[in-house]
Amino acid sequence: MSTKVKISNLVKIFGDEPDGEALTLLQAGYSKNVIRESTGHIVGVNDANIDISEGEIFVVMGLSGSGKSTLIRCVNRLYEPTAGSVFVDSTDVTALDPKELQAFRRDSTGMVFQHFALFPHRDIRSNVAFGLKVKGMDADGRNAAAERALALVGLSGYESSYPRQLSGGMQQRVGLARALATDPDILLMDEAFSALDPLIRRQMQDELMSIQDQLHKTILFITHDLNEALRVGSRVCMMKDGAIHQVGTPEDILMRPETDYVAEFVQDVDQGRVLEVETVREDAAAVPQSATVADALSAIDRLGVEAAHVVDADGRPLGVVARDAAEQAQRSGTRDLSGLIQDVPAITNDTILAKVYQLFGSGLPVAVVDGDGVLIGSVRPLEVLAELGRVENISEQLELAKTHGAQQ
Ligand SMILES: Nc1ncnc2c1ncn2[C@@H]1O[C@H](COP(=O)(O)OP(=O)(O)OP(=O)(O)O)[C@@H](O)[C@H]1O
Ligand SMILES: [Mg+2]
Repeated sequence: MSTKVKISNLVKIFGDEPDGEALTLLQAGYSKNVIRESTGHIVGVNDANIDISEGEIFVVMGLSGSGKSTLIRCVNRLYEPTAGSVFVDSTDVTALDPKELQAFRRDSTGMVFQHFALFPHRDIRSNVAFGLKVKGMDADGRNAAAERALALVGLSGYESSYPRQLSGGMQQRVGLARALATDPDILLMDEAFSALDPLIRRQMQDELMSIQDQLHKTILFITHDLNEALRVGSRVCMMKDGAIHQVGTPEDILMRPETDYVAEFVQDVDQGRVLEVETVREDAAAVPQSATVADALSAIDRLGVEAAHVVDADGRPLGVVARDAAEQAQRSGTRDLSGLIQDVPAITNDTILAKVYQLFGSGLPVAVVDGDGVLIGSVRPLEVLAELGRVENISEQLELAKTHGAQQ
């Protein structure tokens, strides 16, 4: 996938003389605290390097004050970077003159904030169409685009309502529709869902992901909620004190935290809600319906597992034969498998583990199938537990390393 936004060695320092002593100290490796104490300048972003791919939801995550908003604001120069560069496609945003910058903001970016200010005396249609008016589009075109954007966020029918008639969640949707109406390449979303109730928030996350599937925008999404980050992000960037600690897929962040800061965050996440079946899927010992008990046992032995999956002629799972049952049958001279097959559920690769826990009750492996229902692997309940335990251990080890001072 091609790079849409390239942020290189980006620094943002707040204060009277950002590119003076404060920058020199920062580049010499002094910390945000030392710089604040000795120069009175605040480091917002410290040497950020990020490549954001076209069409991804790139999440910036970190505690309050970690520099998330500063970073995103440097992308469209609502904040002027102190050093470094921001490229969008081949445009060097840091080099645009004021007029070019205005055009860039208007044509290429859309922003959604936590508290989105709608015009109280304009109806919803006109609120959403506002950006298009600025762009010089005629009224019919504006209204049509506004209505399309409202449909995308599930607000068809509210075009003539006024902001005060809408709930907070609906107003936030209007904000999103307004940003989408101008059809920008890049959406900048700063805590856009943070003020919403958990349930509404989840719905909005789902909608954002479905809008993304349809429109393939490049989205920079800021949140301080790790669950939200891991849920919506194709990649997640973890920030602290203006610096980037780790950039990775949700799975990377969760299973391979690189610093104690990231590990600490990860500790409180319900891994089963993030990890997908794919992470614990193994090869299945598969045998055809015509196989004998001996065939099943040799398939089981070959893979060192506890059961074989029986599949039909198209490769679809029919059930499993457990090792115990097969060994017992063999001892009693039974050759035929059919009486030993036990039903097991089938699941797909992209299901989160939390959704399949209840299927593990029997202790038998669960069949993993592709979109056509063909067996592509197997999940062993005990492996899932081991994997979850392994992730838990990483955070503990990092925690331990920290208390022993082994980590800087
Ligand atoms: N306009 C400003 N003037 C001075 N310092 C600022 C300004 N904006 C941000 N900062 C400082 O820069 C640092 C990063 O702030 P920023 O707003 O980017 O954090 P954030 O991660 O978005 O936090 P939050 O989750 O609270 O929104 C903080 O130390 C903050 O005090
Ligand atoms: Mg912020």
